[in-house]
Amino acid sequence: MLSMLMRHCIYPGTFDPITYGHLDVLGRAAKLFDRVTVAIARNPGKNPIFAPEQRLALVQANVAKYPHVTATLFDGLLVEFAVDQKADAIIRGLRALSDFEFEFNMALMNRHLEPRIETLFVMPNEQFSYTSSSLVKQVARYGGDVSNFVPADVAAALKTAFAT
Ligand code: COA
Repeated sequence: MLSMLMRHCIYPGTFDPITYGHLDVLGRAAKLFDRVTVAIARNPGKNPIFAPEQRLALVQANVAKYPHVTATLFDGLLVEFAVDQKADAIIRGLRALSDFEFEFNMALMNRHLEPRIETLFVMPNEQFSYTSSSLVKQVARYGGDVSNFVPADVAAALKTAFAT
């Protein structure tokens, strides 16, 4: 019997900026769910170099090929946002063992706060296991080539950000 259930997941992060590693995770989420919302935390505590609206625009430009993926900014607790959005799950990428403890604690805390929302983990392609937004920013800051790690529009935005 065909199910009429629409499965919706939230892919949260700071995305300062979005990388090919994030896009790999997103591609996997897009295959598994009928609807994916990329939720960009404003996260001022992380001192992002891109304003929330810039991060949102870069995400939107790079997810446009997926008709069932949208992106939005959020504040406050992730699980509250997920419930507001009527989502079923949160999806996170596990790049390496070193991600595990942080992700495990966050997933358990989120489950404590809101047992209705499941957290699912996917592994991005191993070529992205050492990619992080901070490392990409560090390379870009000193004029290094980041084209293997971020899309061209993100590389251009990094260049502009570090030129000023
Ligand atoms: N490829 C490349 N890099 C990846 C990646 C992947 N697949 N997955 C994670 N990363 C990197 C990011 O680039 C980032 O690198 P950085 O720290 O060098 O910038 C790092 O891993 C973690 O980033 P991200 O996945 O974006 O998560 P985050 O830690 O920035 O954001 C939130 C975590 C937003 C989900 C979390 O803080 C949150 O839920 N905040 C809302 C408040 C809340 O509910 N708090 C309670 C949580 S229990």
